[in-house]
Amino acid sequence: MSDVLTGTTGAVRFRGCGGVPPQFRLPAPPRHFVGRQEELARIRAGGVTVLSGPGGVGKTALALKWLQDRGCGLYVDLAVREPVGDLLTAFGLSDVAADERAAVFRSLVTRRQFTLLLDNAGSAEQVTPLLPVSGTVVVTSRERLNLKQAQEIGVEPLTDDGRIRQLLDLSYVELPERQARLYRLCAWQPAPFDVQAAAAIAGEHECDVEDALDDLVEKSLLTEVGDSFGFHELVRAHARTKR
Ligand SMILES: Nc1ncnc2c1ncn2[C@@H]1O[C@H](COP(=O)(O)OP(=O)(O)O)[C@@H](O)[C@H]1O
Ligand SMILES: [Mg+2]
Repeated sequence: MSDVLTGTTGAVRFRGCGGVPPQFRLPAPPRHFVGRQEELARIRAGGVTVLSGPGGVGKTALALKWLQDRGCGLYVDLAVREPVGDLLTAFGLSDVAADERAAVFRSLVTRRQFTLLLDNAGSAEQVTPLLPVSGTVVVTSRERLNLKQAQEIGVEPLTDDGRIRQLLDLSYVELPERQARLYRLCAWQPAPFDVQAAAAIAGEHECDVEDALDDLVEKSLLTEVGDSFGFHELVRAHARTKR
């Protein structure tokens, strides 16, 4: 097993970042990343940093931006059911007993000197067993984790209006016309609206509109609560400036 961990096994060779199974590679940060200079400067190499804050605030984007070009990264989404078991299996370690997985994971990370992004942590109990003795780890969570020997950075919404407008513009210019049109038209709705209402506003079929609304949500231009869609005030103001 240690051969697999060190990447020297003849059967399965994992040399360098190229050997990381695709689903556990660090994704690229947003192409138009803006701001966060202060937070970027605070994240520590060779330590554990927890980025905590509400969903959608920009924790993962910040982590990915910082981790970009900092060695071989491993991305582990702790929100899925068996994150560590799946990862070990992907590295060819499929029959590790459940109570030994965390130790084998730590060993893999340490020996291969991976920088680690533990995304969407639910609790300190979930994270602690996965922390390697050395190396760089960034954790994101909606909760404050109060991990021992970690620094915790509270991630707040981007407040600089100019920056946000710049960011929205960058997203807007890349929208296909149907989505851009929906974005502009729906921003004049004062209250949250559903698919039917959006279809009526746009004069389009509900199924087409539904896909476009989902895409706008995906791009963080629209928020979805239950069956309704709505705009953050800054985004609505931006959409209303568009023709
Ligand atoms: N600083 C930033 N610059 C550009 N886009 C950002 C920035 N922060 C977040 N985003 C975008 O905002 C959305 C939500 O950010 P994300 O990092 O996924 O939030 P969280 O991880 O806190 O839920 C994503 O589409 C992301 O690409
Ligand atoms: Mg995230």
